[in-house]
Amino acid sequence: MEKRPNWTSKYAFIVTAIGSAVGLGNIWRFPYIMGQNGGAIFLIVYILLISTICFIPLMNELYIGKLTKKECVGAYESINRNFKYLGALNPITGILIASFYFIVGGWIINYIFKSFFINKIQNYGQYFSDFIQNPVYPCILTLLFLFICIFYTAKGVTKGIERVNKILMPLFAIILIFLVIISLRLPNANLGLEYMFKPDFSKLNTHMILAALGQAFFTLSIGMGALLTYGSYIKEDKSLVRSVYTIILSDTTFALLAGIMIFPAVFAFGLEPNSGAGLVFVTIPKIFSQIPHGNIISFAFFILLFCAAVTSGISILEAPCATFIERFKTSRIKACCIIFGMVSIIAIPATLSFGVLGDLKVFGKTIFDFLDFLTSNIMLPMNTLFLCLISGWYLKIKGKNILNNKIMAFLFDTGLKYIVPIALICLIFMGLN
Ligand code: TRP
Repeated sequence: MEKRPNWTSKYAFIVTAIGSAVGLGNIWRFPYIMGQNGGAIFLIVYILLISTICFIPLMNELYIGKLTKKECVGAYESINRNFKYLGALNPITGILIASFYFIVGGWIINYIFKSFFINKIQNYGQYFSDFIQNPVYPCILTLLFLFICIFYTAKGVTKGIERVNKILMPLFAIILIFLVIISLRLPNANLGLEYMFKPDFSKLNTHMILAALGQAFFTLSIGMGALLTYGSYIKEDKSLVRSVYTIILSDTTFALLAGIMIFPAVFAFGLEPNSGAGLVFVTIPKIFSQIPHGNIISFAFFILLFCAAVTSGISILEAPCATFIERFKTSRIKACCIIFGMVSIIAIPATLSFGVLGDLKVFGKTIFDFLDFLTSNIMLPMNTLFLCLISGWYLKIKGKNILNNKIMAFLFDTGLKYIVPIALICLIFMGLN
């Protein structure tokens, strides 16, 4: 078994945690959920929630990792032996999330190559649905994407995970800024900005508020032990508060930039912002086919998505990987092989659920939709709920020991014990309805 690793520097930890947070959730999910929930007003609610309520569980998860210096199951077990079963839900959630997240990763690889022929496609919606229904290519690409992520996870925390993040995250930021500038220079770009920043208060409703909360938790990677595991590699003397602010601020900035990259382009071409999950794979390629140097821009865009997805994908794998290494005293390579097998077994049927296995329904949903629903709506909020209750009511963690501001400490305590658990229970109920 490997010796417990530590981040080589504070910068390494922050870049890696930002790499985990910034992913498909920012570039693919955020714009389309915002598009479906009324634009600017969603953004206001989202920013309010992410800068207040989300601070608490994010801080809490990292803190428990740093405090216990263990992987998920061990961390819960060291608090109380019986909690280890709750801890085990984290790596299980991770494997289930990986099984649908990596499918989208596979689609991205396809579009990276397809970029060179982007203007040869006749009907973008048709192309996308034909592609995802194909029984072979999406499976191969899902496995390829999984292999890329597991390869760097297998190389270890400092030599693999840290290094990939240090390279891909700056690359990601540069491409994003480049694409934002291109989008803002399109004619009628202001319509997209208006859509993003001019709120229509009549669209405010509870469903939208809970959708914003769910998105905020997902994008910050809260609720499956990814951050707990990353937190456990932090050296003792490092304070968490500034890191947590930096993670939230960067994640929100990247989500906003993703919106500023996408909406002006959508409006410039008179397309609809509320086309759902197809926004990035149907609407955006259609735009690329109509602008000068569209191939190169499309290539840059899908490389951007790829960078975001790899760094987040690695964080999803690291939590189960650390659990296997430390619980079963195996080597990292062996743990990665087992995880590769487990994720593949679930991901392949899920990939096929867009085509040949489309009729196979679990609780009325296709396998892919069911995995997304089960993890995003139920398991992630439930894991966060358990961890907040354990910290607030069992460990009785006090804000004053973590934060040096009295008001903040009071808000942290109240949030951890009452506000966040109530919000999470509402989120789970909304998910079930
Ligand atoms: N936050 C990532 C995104 O925005 C996805 C992700 C990575 C994640 N690790 C996670 C989501 C852990 C939930 C839990 O794409």
